[in-house]
Amino acid sequence: MTLLVTGGAGFIGSNFVLDWLRGSDEPVVNLDALTYAGNLENLASLDGDARHVFVRGDIGDRALVDQLLATHRPRALVHFAAESHVDRSIHGPGDFIRTNVNGTYTLLEAARGFWNTLAEAERAQFRFHHVSTDEVYGSLAPDAPAFTETHAFEPNSPYSASKAASDHLVRAWHHTYGLPVVTTNCSNNYGPFHFPEKLIPLLIVNALAGKPLPVYGDGRQVRDWLYVGDHCSAIRAVLERGRPGETYNVGGWNEKPNIDIVHTVCALLDELRPDPAGPYARLITHVTDRPGHDRRYAIDARKIERELGWRPAETFDTGIRKTVAWYLAHGDWVARVQSGAYRDWLQRHYGDKA
Ligand code: NAD
Ligand code: DAU
Repeated sequence: MTLLVTGGAGFIGSNFVLDWLRGSDEPVVNLDALTYAGNLENLASLDGDARHVFVRGDIGDRALVDQLLATHRPRALVHFAAESHVDRSIHGPGDFIRTNVNGTYTLLEAARGFWNTLAEAERAQFRFHHVSTDEVYGSLAPDAPAFTETHAFEPNSPYSASKAASDHLVRAWHHTYGLPVVTTNCSNNYGPFHFPEKLIPLLIVNALAGKPLPVYGDGRQVRDWLYVGDHCSAIRAVLERGRPGETYNVGGWNEKPNIDIVHTVCALLDELRPDPAGPYARLITHVTDRPGHDRRYAIDARKIERELGWRPAETFDTGIRKTVAWYLAHGDWVARVQSGAYRDWLQRHYGDKA
């Protein structure tokens, strides 16, 4: 039994691989192109562990994906690989279409070809797990009910449109070809190994460097925050017990305006690493808003709780405290990400075998 994971060197993917191998000896084959967002150093604790097979490659490379499926014969494919940053999608949407849309299409076709070769029992067991986002549903009015799985798709950014397109492809491959897919649409994650272009890690690393803390517009946009470990446990639950063809919304029951997040992070840093120059909140700087900025996301996660018994284990208070403490304890990781040295990891650790 083996899992094929895509994007397992990114933020959520690396947390998932580490989490999986803490709880199971089922090997993981990890296909990741190591774009700027991929950091093999996140998986350094698995060096020499035969249960983790890393393959550097693109999900759009059909021959490579076919070869991995034929060689490792996974019982499931867990698909994290994506371009994931909304701001980057505004400046350069091309990579988002290539990876999120065309890449997902290539994976689906490769998975379908492999699945068709399986014996009856293995065909029934196989899963294509597509990891998606709440952003496909668009933006909510302040008093509107949270997104359910039947909410219309109304994506507003090139990123969310590309993810919505991939969700539709996944749905169609089930409906038309019978491929046993499951999709999870998750809210904003935070936790260890989060690349410091995203709000929470950016706040922490900028504050520690005495740099401005950029708040887009009025900072009253609302996100529903989920600790990354809880996302990993939700994926495990859906892989084990999810019904093929279904989608499951995953969220933290944790809606918060951005400005509250900023103040919470500042207060934790004031407590854990006080700055002699004064409270970190002095660095808060309102900047020009993100074009087309979605005002509010909120996930109704009752289906996954009702059907699969999943609920988040962390509250925002416990999760954000752990996260700030992790960044304080991992200044080296941050420094290597900021200097670009993290990109040399492959060469430094695998030498010519890279
Ligand atoms: P990330 O940007 O941190 O990591 C993406 C990973 O995919 C990187 O390791 C990168 O090298 C790899 N990758 C990119 N293009 C590739 C390609 N063409 N072939 C192979 N690998 C490639 O992303 P993340 O935040 O960990 O998100 C993972 C998934 O979860 C994405 O599909 C994202 O849409 C979804 N998601 C993220 C969040 C969140 O809050 N971060 C919330 C909900 C859903
Ligand atoms: O909702 C799930 C999505 O969450 C995922 O699908 C995406 O991959 C992930 O990047 C995240 O998208 P967001 O755009 O919500 O995350 P980001 O961290 O970029 O921004 C969070 C909020 O903070 C958003 O309202 C924009 C705001 N923001 C962000 C940055 C980077 C700021 O105010 N200042 C900033 O500097």
